[in-house]
Amino acid sequence: MKPITKAILPVAGLGTRFLPATKAIPKEMLPIIDKPLLQYAVEEAIDIGIKEIIFITSHTKRAIEKHFSANLDLEASLKKNGKEKYLEKINPKKLQDIKFTFIDQHEQKGLGHAVSLAENCLDEDDDAIAILLPDDLFISNTKSCLQVLADTFIKNSCSVVAINEVKEKDLSKYGVINPEEISDGLFKVKEIIEKPSIAEAPSNLAVCGRYILTKSIFNSLKSINPGAGGEYQLTDAIKDLLYSETILATSYEGMKFDCGSKQGFVEATMYLALDDNELKHDLKESIKKIIT
Ligand code: G1P
Repeated sequence: MKPITKAILPVAGLGTRFLPATKAIPKEMLPIIDKPLLQYAVEEAIDIGIKEIIFITSHTKRAIEKHFSANLDLEASLKKNGKEKYLEKINPKKLQDIKFTFIDQHEQKGLGHAVSLAENCLDEDDDAIAILLPDDLFISNTKSCLQVLADTFIKNSCSVVAINEVKEKDLSKYGVINPEEISDGLFKVKEIIEKPSIAEAPSNLAVCGRYILTKSIFNSLKSINPGAGGEYQLTDAIKDLLYSETILATSYEGMKFDCGSKQGFVEATMYLALDDNELKHDLKESIKKIIT
């Protein structure tokens, strides 16, 4: 299989948990320190060689399109005012040759439906596609989560999803796999269930927001019915794909923050701030004062 060059980022959700902040601003554009949450996932994709980012979005989220386009007025004004050092921030080199595609999801019919809308973006010679759910922010000093998946994909020539252990009480929020261990941290998926009850869950290993799936996933997406929550679930399509293809699941290196929750969002902000040379010294002092 060839390396993957396209990634789907579903970003059409309403961001209800972050209201009122998300009344006028897309949830994915909320900043973790000074960079929108979404840009972390976009950069993670580009760093593994992705050349086209396909956003499944909504007409209410034009700020995302603006963010990933040039802003010539701002560039001119920064240059005029001697603030060239900010040019790289608003027009980073790594984003310059990337194609950004925007597809509107008119109805909220679930993750499976969102992914299915990208089918026409694939060419004959695309073997597989990456899917990143930007709410899950992965931080690693070694390989990124998507890089671990990409390496596993190239080595094994099959679909691969990222997984982590979750607490029993949280299993019903995720897709949960029945694993067959191949080696440390690498599993064959025997079964997968979306949002199972504790009794139904086949393990404590839940899928997190990074996938590399062969393009047969688009056929599987056509065969599914609405599942958990009445929505078309990507997990149900993965379950269908299991009848014809091997799917692997792998753990990843580093940390994951669920930035779809306020808790995770604040934790990610704190973690990155405490890792930031400009901020960490004073911040540690402030935190000491606040908690004493
Ligand atoms: C989605 C998927 C689920 C996966 C989760 C990871 O759920 O449907 O299988 O485990 O993302 O974050 P959602 O968060 O959209 O409910």
